[in-house]
Amino acid sequence: MNKIIFPILRLLSDGNFYSDILISHHLNCPLTEVYKALSLIDSLGIRLTMLSEQRFLWEDPIQWLNPDSILLSSGNASRFFNLEILDFANSTNTYLLNKFQKKPAAHNSVPVVAAELQTNGRGRLNRKWYSGLGDSLTFSLRWNFKCDISFLSGLSLVVGLAIIRVLNTFSVFNVNIKWPNDILSNYKKLAGVLIDFRGGMHGTSHAVIGIGINFNLSNEIKSLIEQDVTDLLTISGKNIDRNNFLGALLNELYNILIKFNDYGFKHFKQEWLSYHAYEGRKTYLTLPDRSIIEGIVDGIGDDGSLCLITNKGENLYHAGDISICMKSNDTIYIGN
Ligand code: BTN
Repeated sequence: MNKIIFPILRLLSDGNFYSDILISHHLNCPLTEVYKALSLIDSLGIRLTMLSEQRFLWEDPIQWLNPDSILLSSGNASRFFNLEILDFANSTNTYLLNKFQKKPAAHNSVPVVAAELQTNGRGRLNRKWYSGLGDSLTFSLRWNFKCDISFLSGLSLVVGLAIIRVLNTFSVFNVNIKWPNDILSNYKKLAGVLIDFRGGMHGTSHAVIGIGINFNLSNEIKSLIEQDVTDLLTISGKNIDRNNFLGALLNELYNILIKFNDYGFKHFKQEWLSYHAYEGRKTYLTLPDRSIIEGIVDGIGDDGSLCLITNKGENLYHAGDISICMKSNDTIYIGN
């Protein structure tokens, strides 16, 4: 990524006009570099208004992520977070996985990374996760568990529940969870969770939990996504503050993950079921071997597995590489 793209955008976010020469003075770089960066900014889908004499204005700047506001909104849990905000990352999950590959994370500290722009976001089942600059929240956190990885099957469900709880506190109520953890509004996808699990020594484990939430997707991004998608502006009619939301969600995640570690998924099962999008519905599961199972959804197990009544009786399915949908012919998506 070109080094002066983000400094230029930050400069222009004050809503004033800047000439090419003024930009080059502010950033102490040659005009040719400014032109290169401006054309890359355009290719990112960010439209600057250009007046005569090479003067530029960003009419609708994004709300930048601000670590102080995020930590302020994360309440008592803020002291545990080691928060990093990146201008861009290919994938915040991959970033955290690589960062702690060699050195372990400090005990009692929860590394969190959020990116203004994610260039190669990963979704479940090897899908892509699409987002543009400032139109989403894309972040990951790394959490240590005092138990073996095999006890973490309900983790992705409680993370979905944490997102729902926070949406509710922002008065966004018309939301459900599609097993295991897609957040939907009117059956359109609003948010998704990707968890990379890693086993540790002596019955411990850790997970990198990545969350993507659509705030105000551009038509360009929406057109890349091959499933029904929505965003917070569409469903709430409000521009929800990304910093406040991220802070509140970090606080909720901190509290819910501690309880999950102590009591397991069973503790959250009834609450989770109250948001279950496909309960009692006829659905189609696509298994890792590509076979499709048809059945009626009949709740979930204490470990977060999905109960499906099929023509061969009732079966439990564990999240992993399974996808679920209500139509038989749209099981394979390319993105989000
Ligand atoms: C899904 O619904 O398929 C999961 C989407 C998860 C997207 C988030 S965005 C932040 C984090 N980094 C990634 O590369 N993916 C997750």
